[in-house]
Amino acid sequence: MKKVSFVHMADGTAEDYQLIAEAMESAHNPLADDLLELLQKNEGHDIGYQVSRLEHSLQSATHAFRDDQDEEMVVAALLHDIADTIAPYNHADVAAGILRPYVSDRTHWVVKYHGLFQTYYYAHHFGNDRNQRDKYQGHPHFQACVDFCEKYDQNAFDPAFDTMPLSAFEPMVRRILGRKPGFDMSSRDVAA
Ligand SMILES: [Fe+2]
Ligand SMILES: [Fe+2]
Repeated sequence: MKKVSFVHMADGTAEDYQLIAEAMESAHNPLADDLLELLQKNEGHDIGYQVSRLEHSLQSATHAFRDDQDEEMVVAALLHDIADTIAPYNHADVAAGILRPYVSDRTHWVVKYHGLFQTYYYAHHFGNDRNQRDKYQGHPHFQACVDFCEKYDQNAFDPAFDTMPLSAFEPMVRRILGRKPGFDMSSRDVAA
């Protein structure tokens, strides 16, 4: 395989970076494989809920699917807690960041703020304000996030629920994460 000429990025030429851009374009994107693997690892992570992290994610996606949400929202529900174990203090930010290039602003916003909006269900039990989400009242995606938490997240901890298997969602994950990202190589990043 052809390699770039530099060992320090500062010394790279336009030709070097074109080479990298083309290689990235044609390479198999392992993101869907990696996230599905991480999701399955979550089967073993039990922190006291009546269901595993994997089961919670599957239930969340099942609720979204049966509520006739579009495919990217079903995938967002499946992956909304994907960063629980790798970013325990900012899992919503990390999940939203992973999904950002492939989903709408609305879906990104819902995933990014679901962690804060979920505090509505428990913050008062710690003597904290459960209505912290209210500072986002008036935002165009406020109600979508309230609804996501109520209908697909806070209610997805039920061991008796008729949950769809991961295999049902896998093609959806591959379709959404297989989308052409909404940015190009020259930026390599997207604004929040
Ligand atoms: Fe979460
Ligand atoms: Fe969750």
